[in-house]
Formats: sequence, structure tokens, C-alpha cells
Amino acid sequence: MVTNLMTQRWALLTFILRSSLFFPSFSSSTEPAILNSTVVLLFTMTITLLQLVILLVCVTWSSTATKLFIGANWKCSIESVEDVDRQVEGLNEMWSSLDQAEKDAIELCINPPFVYLDRVRAKLHKEISVGSQNALDARGHSPDRRNTGATTMAMIRSVGSEWVLLGHSDRRNNLGEKDKLIATKIRAALDEGLGVTLTIGELKWQRNMGLALRTLRKQLGVAAAAVPEGKWESVVVAYEPVWAVGEGATPCSPEEAQRVNAALRKFIHDKVGPEAAKACRFTYTGSVNEINAAAYAALADVDGFVVGRAGLDPVKLKSIIQTLASS
Ligand code: PGA
Repeated sequence: MVTNLMTQRWALLTFILRSSLFFPSFSSSTEPAILNSTVVLLFTMTITLLQLVILLVCVTWSSTATKLFIGANWKCSIESVEDVDRQVEGLNEMWSSLDQAEKDAIELCINPPFVYLDRVRAKLHKEISVGSQNALDARGHSPDRRNTGATTMAMIRSVGSEWVLLGHSDRRNNLGEKDKLIATKIRAALDEGLGVTLTIGELKWQRNMGLALRTLRKQLGVAAAAVPEGKWESVVVAYEPVWAVGEGATPCSPEEAQRVNAALRKFIHDKVGPEAAKACRFTYTGSVNEINAAAYAALADVDGFVVGRAGLDPVKLKSIIQTLASS
């Protein structure tokens, strides 16, 4: 859905660029003989000025359009600064090898562990965003800051990170994070000016019991209540069927991913409003790779991905980006 918009804008921009080059020569070659040279010059200058203004409007329009989103979650896969540097180098080369239209269509966000955020931000291509994998490990935000070992939103932003990933199943299911705590973090992140990638997902037994949508609506409902009005463009919802994540898991079928994401968008539409449903990006996560990405990218309500394993390989990541950008 978003891609079509981007493609149309890109096509219009290209058209205007072409006509900008073409028009001055056209106007001077067909000038009527009776016009004197001053009139022709003034006419040509006015047309060129008009073209420049239209061009400027289109460039701004194109760069502010909502982009498709890809988050790459490193989890704990990289554990030394040497490996971090190698990974960043590979990502920079990959990004530089993309076409401009592909870069313009995608917002790529790399999510390293806390300790590498600063290093990654300093070395990564400036057009790629950096996000934390979590924040505020302690019990929510404490105004007196007596949270030894916690990392606040302000700290994350101070090292140039723009996003924070919240609600991942690793944290919900291995560490017992609850919707209420996740909602507190969402509010704190948005108040700090960070974007939020909110992961929600049902467990296998919940799906088998027919509770998938009910579980997802509950998780999303608590989170949505924490999002201030007008902040939905800073929120990316990642549908993560927990049974579809990680080594050996079976990915969710594209039909089911579409059914769920459409239901989630409708939920936000009905509970919050049409503007929020339009501004929020709904993505899919769970065993996305360079082979199956095309089937998800074509779906009307999939505005991107969060990738785990495939995001660690710049060649696979490039293929996923290109697939999404051309869908
Ligand atoms: P995966 O991880 O792509 O390796 O399945 C996805 C996730 O953790 O959300």
C-alpha cells in the first residue's frame, strides 16, 4: 500500500525532472519570430523558475512520504566489537549498493545490543537508523532514577538512536514482561522523541485454542492507550507469531499474516481513529528471509518486516530490501 504511493511519487518526480531538462530547449526552439529576445528570455526564465519550485515541492513531498520499514534485530548474536565493526562495514557496503529509489522507499533500522549502540551509530551509514532492543529494564521509569543497571530513553537518544524495540517475545516470554510495563516504556520512548517498534504475538497454544486475535488485540489495546494523539507515525507494530520465530520454526502463511495485520489495522481504526490506522505501519516478523519475503511484501497490510537471522547477512538483507521496495 505504502509502496504504491512511493512509486507514484517517484514516477511523478522523474517525469518532472525530465520535463525540466526538456522544456527550456523546447520553448526556445519554437519561439515565434515576432517576439523580441527580451520577451523570450523573460518567458524562459519564468518557466524555469516555476519548474524549479515544482521540483522542490516534489522532492520535499517524496522525502517525507511514509516509508516501508525494516528492523534488523541482532538479539545477542554479535558479542565482540570486532564482529560489530565487520557487520557495520558489510551493512554500509550493502546500503551504498542500493538504487536511490530503493533507499527512498525503505527505512532501515539496525537494533544492536545496548553496549554497541554508540559504536554502531558512529560507524553506520547516516541514512540507516539505529534502535535499541529494549529500554528501562527496571520497573518502568522512576523519576528519582534509583534504577541501578537500567538504561533510560534519554540515554538511548543521547547516543543518536532513533528507535526502540519493545514487547519482543523474548522479553515477554523469557523475562515475564507484561503489557502494562511495555505500555509505560512506549509512552516514555515517544515522550523522548524515539520511534517505537512494538512487537505483539500469540503463543502456539493460544493459536490452537482459537485465541490468537483476542491475545493480539489485548496486547495492542494496552499499548495503544499509551500512544499520545498524533504520535502514530512513530509507531511500527510488528506481528510476531511466536511459534514462527527462530531456527526450525514454520513461518506464518502469507494469507494468515494478511488476515491478522488487516484485523490489527482495523482494531486501531475503530479504537483510535482512521488517521492513526493510516499513520501506523504494520509489519510482519517470524522467519522472514530472502526467499519468502516476496510473498509477504505483496500483502496489502504488510508495510515491512522485522528480521532476526536474515538481518545478520547483508546479502540476504539487501535482497529483502529490494523485494520490499519493488513490491
Ligand atoms: P527470525 O527472528 O527472523 O530469526 O525468525 C524474528 C524475531 O525475533 O522477531
